[in-house]
Amino acid sequence: MAMSPAHHLLKFRHGCMLTVKCFRFPCVKHLTTFRTSNPKSKNLQKQASELLEYSQEENVKSIAAEHFSLFTNFITSEEETSLITEIDTKWRRLKYQKGHWDNAIQDYRELEIRDWRRPNASIIQRIQEVAFDDGDVKNNLIHVLDLSPIGFINPHVDSTRFCGRVIAGLSLLSPCVMKYTHKDDASIWFQALLPPKSLYIMRDRVRYEFEHEILKNEDSLFKGEKVNKSRRVSLLCRSQPQAELDEKPGQLFKPITLFENT
Ligand code: OGA
Ligand code: MN
Repeated sequence: MAMSPAHHLLKFRHGCMLTVKCFRFPCVKHLTTFRTSNPKSKNLQKQASELLEYSQEENVKSIAAEHFSLFTNFITSEEETSLITEIDTKWRRLKYQKGHWDNAIQDYRELEIRDWRRPNASIIQRIQEVAFDDGDVKNNLIHVLDLSPIGFINPHVDSTRFCGRVIAGLSLLSPCVMKYTHKDDASIWFQALLPPKSLYIMRDRVRYEFEHEILKNEDSLFKGEKVNKSRRVSLLCRSQPQAELDEKPGQLFKPITLFENT
């Protein structure tokens, strides 16, 4: 896929955080099969297959099946309220920001929370238990991203400097469409309709070979139907990059090289 310079810039979504370092973007390993202690998880995953839409390309379905998971109703409405209540005490006067300097994201605000109130801390722990495999090093700084009703995230790949193989996102308040497009061939894509209270996990090939985006409200179409995206908050749990997995050449998944000059 031929890429414009602007498109390249988008890839630096987390790379641009160098000056503020991982303070603002902590970041983010491999699960071939989903492992969890939650006995209901298999059912949840089954329901969730209806929330995926694929391009014609035949391999994309099997890549998504192996490297992407979506769990509906991962939390209850009470837990959602509890998370939002805590998050909303933290913005202080922070207003939605128009755009990031790399334009990867628009009409958003974000923060990082390490120490959660007790009921919420156990939700974070549940996410981490489901998302990470043995050997993953979790990043305990949880990135909270609040998109206003007109907010969206342009296509990007999270920085390999700050993020490891797994990125797990819990969606709150509003549905939205998250689209994954192969970085070398835009005809290879899949998208997920993310309901509030759902958890998605992207790992390995989906995390490294596909750019992900959250569509703006007016572009939010899923299987031909309009999805009304309003204010949407996400909690992003990422594994730490691990030198032997993320930086060594010749690994199974060659990471995109960012930050060559840093
Ligand atoms: C990001 C990102 C996705 C989400 O912040 O890099 O891709 O679900 N967020 O909010
Ligand atoms: Mn991202």
